[in-house]
Amino acid sequence: MLNEKVQNALNEQFNAEMYSSYLYLSMTAWFKSINLDGFANWMVQQAKEELVHAMKFYDFINQRGGRVIPAAIAAPPHEWDSPLAVFEKTLAHEQMVTGLINNLVEIANAEHDHATHIFLQWFVTEQVEEEESAGGVLEQLKLVKEDKGGLFMIDRELLKRAAPSALNGSA
Ligand code: FEO
Repeated sequence: MLNEKVQNALNEQFNAEMYSSYLYLSMTAWFKSINLDGFANWMVQQAKEELVHAMKFYDFINQRGGRVIPAAIAAPPHEWDSPLAVFEKTLAHEQMVTGLINNLVEIANAEHDHATHIFLQWFVTEQVEEEESAGGVLEQLKLVKEDKGGLFMIDRELLKRAAPSALNGSA
């Protein structure tokens, strides 16, 4: 059984993951609007992955006999100056999410909730990958700077990112 403090914190993270998905979908739409389909593909897969994260929180709250209480999802930004600006924002966002996950671990520990602590370990590891993945694209963008040829080469490469495994949680 979840105590109220842990349940509220998990619900907040459920909302944060939904917002992440919404943010990345907004970035996808921006890339589509400037015909960078590889970047759009990378971002839409990222948006889907965030839904997988949100569903992990949804399922865990239910499994523990808690209650999922959806809150309003904030409107994300929808305009950026450049692909570089998008990936600077993406990395900063993932670093912020890492902080949220670390904070959740602290709450679980303070409440002696070992099951939640174990559940969160997957996210601790995932955040290392999330920062590495966004940071990798950012570094490539910094290398090519204003070079259009370089940008199109990265765009072609990002077309290869595959969809995450299907959402398979139960209702
Ligand atoms: Fe759900 Fe990108 O962290």
